[in-house]
Amino acid sequence: MAAKKRVLSGMRATGRMHLGHLVGALENWVKLQDSYQCYFFVADWHALTTDYADTSQLTENTFQMVTDWLAAGLDPEKSTLFLQSRVLEHAELHLLFSMITPLGWLERVPTYKEQREQIRDKDLGTYGFLGYPVLQAADILIYRANFVPVGEDQVPHVELTREVARRFNVTYAKVFPEPGVLLTPTPKLPGLDGRKMSKSYNNTIDLGDDPDTIRQKVSTMLTDPQRVRRSDPGRPEICPVFGYHRRYSPPDVIARVDAECRTAQIGCVDCKALMASHLVPALEPIRQRRRRYEAEPGLVWDILAEGTRRAQRAARATMRRVRQAMHLNHPEGGKRGRRTGNPSKTSPVTPS
Ligand code: TRP
Ligand code: SF4
Repeated sequence: MAAKKRVLSGMRATGRMHLGHLVGALENWVKLQDSYQCYFFVADWHALTTDYADTSQLTENTFQMVTDWLAAGLDPEKSTLFLQSRVLEHAELHLLFSMITPLGWLERVPTYKEQREQIRDKDLGTYGFLGYPVLQAADILIYRANFVPVGEDQVPHVELTREVARRFNVTYAKVFPEPGVLLTPTPKLPGLDGRKMSKSYNNTIDLGDDPDTIRQKVSTMLTDPQRVRRSDPGRPEICPVFGYHRRYSPPDVIARVDAECRTAQIGCVDCKALMASHLVPALEPIRQRRRRYEAEPGLVWDILAEGTRRAQRAARATMRRVRQAMHLNHPEGGKRGRRTGNPSKTSPVTPS
């Protein structure tokens, strides 16, 4: 059997995962585990590019995020789960790539411009923020990954990664494969208020939420705004609740809700309760697994430590090739016996 191709992806350390993460990334990662050699990591350094001013939550966020990864079904026997900041070689490769990456490439990255314009409450005028995609290129290429499963917004970063790889390969030696994107379709599950689900909008259903919390949150969900009275017919196709039915309810329920909403036979309160009755059991196994890992934090850190060791081995192997390609594999020295102290005070080396 041919060796499995390598997949790599990462997430900024943002803490607890919500349904958007599950549907938009984690479920896909879980599937990939069987067909690829998978590397998934906590991008804690990337979290600093926008949030350097407050690092107090990094450890806690890392723990919560990885706990949710495991709860969602990432399996440390199949995938290598690790922490970016523990594989120092990422920083070395980032530095070397920064030498060959034209500034223009970085200024052209759409997320760079967008975020600088849109995010006002953080200082994004730093070297690290501009260099974000260079660090990401190092993350990907150091494992010589073939595929990177990400959402639409990350595609330009993977394209830039390919350009960096190409430039390195032509300038020095062919070390890096050019990775392709495995596009994860954007989730059809909006947040409670109908906007994109995001912690910063405070509109999430979290993987760790208990059944009562889920039911309560669902009851506050936005519905078709034109359905003001119970007797008003609704439009399921624009209703966030119906999007959840589509995903979590069985086909006969979906068909019934679709018909009864349009004819005002079902009210939104009942419709939401019905949806929650299918959503809650779907999330229950995840919540149970989460509780087991939460009760044993040492296990979560051990899993990360083991994955990090595996990642280090792969990263170090690549860096040996990189240093060789760049003529940075200078003689190590220090092999002719041990000498310490100031050279002028020690006895001269006698030629053998
Ligand atoms: N930039 C990614 C995000 O914001 C996170 C990330 C960092 C990443 N390094 C990566 C994703 C390498 C894939 C591969 O979601
Ligand atoms: Fe949405 Fe259901 Fe209300 Fe229709 S009945 S508007 S699908 S919540």
